[in-house]
Amino acid sequence: MFERLMMKPQFQTLFQPLTFNNGTTLPNRLVLAPMTHWASNEDGSASEAEIDFVGSRSAGLGMVISAATAVHPTGRAFDGEPNAVCATDVPGLRRVAQSIQAHGAKAVLQLHHGGFRALPHLVPAGGVVAPSPFTLIAPPFISEQVKAADAALQTEARVLADAEIRELVDAFAQAAEYALEAGFDGVEIHGANGYLLQQFYSAASNRRTDEWGGSRERRMAFPLAVARAVTDAVARAGRADFIVGYRFSPEEAPAEGIKMADTLALIDELVKLPLQYLHVSLGDFNEPAENAAEDSSLPPQRIARIHQHLAGRLPLMGVGGLVSGAHIAAAAQSGYAELIAVGRGAIINPDFAVKIAAGNDEALTDSLDAALGAQQQHIPEALWQVLLRMQPWVPIRNFK
Ligand SMILES: Cc1cc2nc3c(=O)[nH]c(=O)nc-3n(C[C@H](O)[C@H](O)[C@H](O)COP(=O)(O)O)c2cc1C
Repeated sequence: MFERLMMKPQFQTLFQPLTFNNGTTLPNRLVLAPMTHWASNEDGSASEAEIDFVGSRSAGLGMVISAATAVHPTGRAFDGEPNAVCATDVPGLRRVAQSIQAHGAKAVLQLHHGGFRALPHLVPAGGVVAPSPFTLIAPPFISEQVKAADAALQTEARVLADAEIRELVDAFAQAAEYALEAGFDGVEIHGANGYLLQQFYSAASNRRTDEWGGSRERRMAFPLAVARAVTDAVARAGRADFIVGYRFSPEEAPAEGIKMADTLALIDELVKLPLQYLHVSLGDFNEPAENAAEDSSLPPQRIARIHQHLAGRLPLMGVGGLVSGAHIAAAAQSGYAELIAVGRGAIINPDFAVKIAAGNDEALTDSLDAALGAQQQHIPEALWQVLLRMQPWVPIRNFK
């Protein structure tokens, strides 16, 4: 087969460099979405398998965001979750950063605390913590044995005391310092997907009556304190070039949960901080806003409404269901996001950006191959087992 050597015009903007407000330039606007691999060593240090996984998915990209990485021992929500909780984590983190940077992409560490989504068997005595009382629900990706063991350990989350909340704010700042020391180019604060920061912002999960809960402003206090502590740590280090991004989920289903107006209000506060980008977590790039039909003067998509409100104050990263060249081109050409992130598509096609740049996007496929197995596709065994259990989340062909 002859390889095409010319990038197609619909991808040209995507492959232009992007310079952030701090002067740091990405070689292009394609990003690897943060993806948990369940593959760090038991003590949270980096493993060969995860370094191979992330390195094998970094070619041709402008930026790579790491797997959610715990900033505190109480925050661990996945078996094999990486840690950025003590100095001994730094050498492994450095190898993760280097495996990304070897391909020319900027390396960004995602800073995470699971809150009530942490797993009882992974956190120290004292247990799983939350803004308010919460009955723990086992996530779909864990095995039946772990589910049973966790239920035996703990069924209710413990409410965080004020001093503990302040300790967690400091833990995010400390993790950013470890990222700096490890040679990462930036960090992304994980304020999405139902984890601790979102649990504080949502009235559905935050029923506190102290300064960390109640009104919208007070529910926002914890996520903003974390973002401020991280940007202060970067300033103290004298590293204006270091990238700080913030990821959020735009809307929650429960009536008292986060709605678009809450998200736009959070954005208006986040843009006052020295951040470089915002990242909207979406299952599908084009998914409509909850009340899309109510206001036809606005575009229906969540991302379009956020982009319009943001009005260029920071670059916006979009994501969700972009697997084929046509999907990626359409997202880039929509004008709704300055940065385009790809997750599942990159597990399936590790070199998707290289293929697109070469005008060869027809070669992209839409499924992994069970016949090839995990190792040949540079997928850690633990991640492969989760993907098998979670079909068709990341589709696998020849799977019986
Ligand atoms: C295997 C896997 C692991 C993920 N882990 C994370 C994570 O650690 N942090 C995060 O913010 N999102 C995580 N996500 C969500 C992705 O970043 C992304 O938002 C989502 O998969 C939609 O994009 P996609 O269709 O391109 O995969 C994960 C997704 C997958 C498929």
